[in-house]
Amino acid sequence: MPGATGHAPSAVQCSPESGETACAVGVPGSWATRRNLRGAVRDDDGVSDPDPLVARLRAAGCVFAEEEAALLLEAADDQDALERMVRDRVAGRPLEHLLGWAELDGRRVAVADGVFVPRQRTLLLVDLAAELAPRGGTVVDLCCGTGALLVAVLARRPDLDGHAADLDPAAVACARTNLAGPGPGRVHEGDLYDALPPALRGRVDVLVVNAPYVPTAEIARMPPEARDHEHRIALDGGPDGIEVHRRVAAGAATWLRPGGTLLIETGRRQADGTALACAEAGLAAGVVVREMSTLVRAISGGSGSSGTMAR
Ligand SMILES: C[S@@+](CC[C@H](N)C(=O)[O-])C[C@H]1O[C@@H](n2cnc3c(N)ncnc32)[C@H](O)[C@@H]1O
Repeated sequence: MPGATGHAPSAVQCSPESGETACAVGVPGSWATRRNLRGAVRDDDGVSDPDPLVARLRAAGCVFAEEEAALLLEAADDQDALERMVRDRVAGRPLEHLLGWAELDGRRVAVADGVFVPRQRTLLLVDLAAELAPRGGTVVDLCCGTGALLVAVLARRPDLDGHAADLDPAAVACARTNLAGPGPGRVHEGDLYDALPPALRGRVDVLVVNAPYVPTAEIARMPPEARDHEHRIALDGGPDGIEVHRRVAAGAATWLRPGGTLLIETGRRQADGTALACAEAGLAAGVVVREMSTLVRAISGGSGSSGTMAR
């Protein structure tokens, strides 16, 4: 699975900020008919006349109904299996959990039930980590979930030494699958920095973090795909959303080498608080915004200031 290329419409790309919606599926009809009616059929007026599966997906709010239908058809071994998947999808289970994989940066990663589905907006972390890490340097993906961010960084920069860590055993199991390879294990289980091998202390060049940052009270307003199907520990950032960020920032200077960089995804409304937490921990921090993505870039050994960075 790791390293394979794939394409999936990201069904779970929701955040309280983006207002993305959930989606569901289904239809009767023969197995052969479904196989033959994957896409929409246009009538003479150019109006879409989708096959029943696509129609149900669309009616349930799926933006990428055709692609989802095709992926479900491909994944199901027989009609019964398809019906089960359709029912689960209608009930709001994320497409990625049904398929058992998600796509990030053109690569498939295994994702198990409950584990956070990597979001496309997090590619900004990948872009900057791959750009900033020195040749042969060390990158740590803290709060790694599936490990998709480190998989993407190492695919672009195979010269790097990469480590990943998470507290959720289900996430760690996925990351171990996705980051399997020769040599000592590089996926660690535990609370933030406690999980890391002591030998990494003071040696990390780039610390990549997409930790939970949804304020506790806002979880109830998240789309059900996230709220009901991703573990609470993957979403809950405490009362103001930056509780975990404060802990990450507080430990960063200990684990980064002098001049090393912390890249931490945050929300638009949490960005100033995340940057302040980094500054209070003695890092020089700035907010970086690109389209739907917001992160704080903080440099160890800096002045303890915070502001805005171009990128
Ligand atoms: C928003 S998800 C992001 C996962 C992954 N970085 C990604 O972008 O796909 C946050 C992750 O942080 C993990 N996490 C939450 N609190 C943690 C802690 N105290 N120590 C380590 N991991 C933690 C969760 O288990 C979850 O996998």
